[in-house]
Amino acid sequence: MDYLKIKGKSSLNGTIKISGAKNASLPLIAMTILAKNNVTLKNLPSVADIKTLLKLLSNLGAKCSFHDDKVLVDTSTMNETKATYDIVKTMRASILVLGPILARFGHCEVSLPGGCAIGQRPIDLHLKALEQMGAQIAIKAGYIEARAPQGLKGCEIIFDKITVTGSANIIMAAALAEGETTIINAAREPEVVQLCEVLNKSGVKIEGIGTAVLKIHGTHGKLLNIKEFSIIPDRIEAGTYLCAGAISGSELTLTDVEPKHLGAVIAKLEEMGFRLEISDDTITIFPAKEIKPVKIVTQEYPAFPTDMQAQFMALATQAEGVSIIEERLFENRFMHVSELQRMGADISLNGHTATVNGKTKLSGADVMATDLRASSALVLAALIAEGQTNVHRIYHLDRGYDSLEKKLRAVGVEVQRLKEGL
Ligand code: UD1
Repeated sequence: MDYLKIKGKSSLNGTIKISGAKNASLPLIAMTILAKNNVTLKNLPSVADIKTLLKLLSNLGAKCSFHDDKVLVDTSTMNETKATYDIVKTMRASILVLGPILARFGHCEVSLPGGCAIGQRPIDLHLKALEQMGAQIAIKAGYIEARAPQGLKGCEIIFDKITVTGSANIIMAAALAEGETTIINAAREPEVVQLCEVLNKSGVKIEGIGTAVLKIHGTHGKLLNIKEFSIIPDRIEAGTYLCAGAISGSELTLTDVEPKHLGAVIAKLEEMGFRLEISDDTITIFPAKEIKPVKIVTQEYPAFPTDMQAQFMALATQAEGVSIIEERLFENRFMHVSELQRMGADISLNGHTATVNGKTKLSGADVMATDLRASSALVLAALIAEGQTNVHRIYHLDRGYDSLEKKLRAVGVEVQRLKEGL
């Protein structure tokens, strides 16, 4: 197992290129199951979750070949419809194959993903919606067994809660269904928007893209002709590096970024006193004279993303005053709090709300990553801590951050990847 050794108080300066979005790539890779042709996806990030999903497709008989940041996926050779536990347990987003496999083959088995560090994360809404579309669903021996021998049928689906992968799953199922599917209360995240846009260009008419009401005109089983496309920039990776610039009082420029997807994050940084210069695809952050405390409530897009909550908590430790951070999406997404406390942060928790008293001096320590974004908060804290921080269990970071050490090193951070126990 690897860990990161980070020397604190490094001063950052320079440019970081933002990679393609992991959370856009995952549904778009699953979408290739709906294609009749070979599909080329460009600007894929080199992260473990993408490799996991491609491995899952390969296990199902698809052919996937890499060419730098491009991947060519041929699902015409798929001859398996079972997503087994060994893969699904490593990545919950494997559930994204359920809708497309069922739509294409009329049956599918996917291991139940189970809970994870940040909460229960049920998939009841995915299953209820597929049942409404005519699927018969049974849970047997830890697997979801879904059948739709007559094909899926369009209908009206009202999501009780906004779900990102749930929306993506049902959009893909509806793409090959018979008739129209209307999804009410659909997720409006940019990653869902890109999925709709690619499908829309591939023969599936979708109305209301980017809104909470989507009308998907299914092809009644006709497979799609999907042209080459490029994955949108990763807004969470970008937000994390903006926080790296902010916490370390550095001037840092991000390139290949989509500022429009970062509205809520940029607004909070500005509220905290940071100046940002923004062009079409770059953002430069400048140091604040004094970091002001902030109030954050995580909500669905376009509000402040839960995936940026941990990083802003690290940043809030350096604000002059009391910051309040409320987590509304996941019940247990405060695992980073105890690790930040071990570095000297003054944070108290009350249910879903964290109160951060700043400004505190942080000191380097051995800390443990517990989930993807919590891990990045520990890296941010390490940048300004006195002394050295060892961030353990960084397989979480490897799931979602492309070339993290390389990118940090290029802007001046002293960081090394080492093997535990050596
Ligand atoms: C996706 C993102 C994740 C992000 C999250 C919220 C991917 C691969 N992951 O996760 O990074 O943190 O959106 O922005 O894109 N829920 C139910 N029943 C369901 C589905 C969801 O109750 O069937 C609840 C969840 O427990 C949670 C909320 O709805 O409280 C939102 O979850 P959801 O949007 O589904 O998260 P993911 O799609 O898993």
